[in-house]
Amino acid sequence: MPKSETLDFLKEHNQHRIIQHYQRLSPDKQDLFRRNLEGLDLPLVFKLHREFSGKETPAHLPRDIQPAPIITVPATPSELSFQEKACAQGEALLRENRVAVLVVAGGQGSRLGFNGAEGAFLVSPVKKKSLFQLFSETVLALNHRYRTAIPLLVMTSMENDRAVKDFFQAHNFFGLDSGAVLFFTQEMLPTITADGSLILKDETHLFAHPDGHGGSLKALHKSGLLSELIRGGFSELFYFQVDNPLVKIADPVFLGYHRMAESEFSLKVLRRRNAAEKIGLYALINGKPGVIEYSDLVPGSECLSEGEGARFWAGSIAIHILALSFVERLNRQGFILPYHRAVKITEAPGPGGRVEKATVWKFETFVFDGLLLADRTCCVETLRAEEFAPVKNRQGEDSAGTAAQAISARARQWLVEAGSSVAFDVPVEISPRYALDKEELAVKLKGKLMAIKEGAYLE
Ligand code: UTP
Repeated sequence: MPKSETLDFLKEHNQHRIIQHYQRLSPDKQDLFRRNLEGLDLPLVFKLHREFSGKETPAHLPRDIQPAPIITVPATPSELSFQEKACAQGEALLRENRVAVLVVAGGQGSRLGFNGAEGAFLVSPVKKKSLFQLFSETVLALNHRYRTAIPLLVMTSMENDRAVKDFFQAHNFFGLDSGAVLFFTQEMLPTITADGSLILKDETHLFAHPDGHGGSLKALHKSGLLSELIRGGFSELFYFQVDNPLVKIADPVFLGYHRMAESEFSLKVLRRRNAAEKIGLYALINGKPGVIEYSDLVPGSECLSEGEGARFWAGSIAIHILALSFVERLNRQGFILPYHRAVKITEAPGPGGRVEKATVWKFETFVFDGLLLADRTCCVETLRAEEFAPVKNRQGEDSAGTAAQAISARARQWLVEAGSSVAFDVPVEISPRYALDKEELAVKLKGKLMAIKEGAYLE
């Protein structure tokens, strides 16, 4: 934007503090400041600020919420045979090289307090492998098993892009072909105070934040990777979050259910631990399957009832499969995921330049809102012990400690089911390259019974 337009635009939106700051800068720095503004969608943020101003409750709270259909964990012979069919269909998709995987790693990880690449967090109980190493080794093992070449897409933010790329490079892409690890960066949006002021981060930058995990669907398109994948014959995108070391990447059963339902957007759910668990609720929203963010649930609503017989038990764990044609359609229509507002307290320079506490608004899109826009969807139940142990906090619930325990507990369970005995409190880890699941483990052990009494690593 030329200088005069920038100033007019800022004036129009009452950004007097920013204008004063700008006018004090040298011409070179003014240029830099303007260039930095160019990457930020200021009109969007002012529009969102207007929309959300004065609203105490979230923007689009659904009126009618009912339980939604779910393929539950199979219990009967016919459900088991349906699952087998699904597995065969999913394996076919993998062998046909139709599946790409995407890990979203652009979040700020503020609860974890880990600056830089959250995927570099060392999480496995015995070998202390990083999240990125676990994911990369899983993709390697899948490539080997299905004689395929799955691209691993990694979404970064402008804040951590360098750190993520350096981490992969420093570890030789954990054995993956470097050309098959595809990085792309999500957009940032300016953070704004509740009263509508932009905030300075430093002399030439505004405070900004990544635009939410929903931004992955936009950035995938803008980066050109979406059309590249489609041209390359890929049709499905397996989506997951960087903070879940138990994710079963490109699970063939899930892929198969998705394919049989001709779904455009599929998700995995599990039984919520309790009403306070910070995961989205899966339900029919005004008659359509969707996910309601936990913070949007109204206290006292039936959705928050707990225990046996609770009708609303399904929590979304951010494991999805999206048809690439759907992602393309979403972008063709103009990117139409709704924005949500997060209210945060942060430190920011105040009117006199002194750093003080400020209430700020961050606008983000959520990937699961895509569900409501899909023509066909599919939801599959999974078990927490098999697939979900997020690393969200430094300590306590959902922390690196609980994730390491969960990796160990799952390995132990697989070993026990294969006939081995494992002392209760010892750490155990199975490399994805040794076995991707309990069935593969049983085959590898070939009836060999192990008695594990101290920390063990199977490679
Ligand atoms: P979270 O909702 O846990 O957010 O992200 P966060 O920013 O990582 O962590 P906090 O809230 O600051 O503590 C869930 C997943 O979505 C990704 C994260 O990297 C994580 O895998 N994410 C989130 C993005 O990729 N981009 C975003 O803008 C937000």
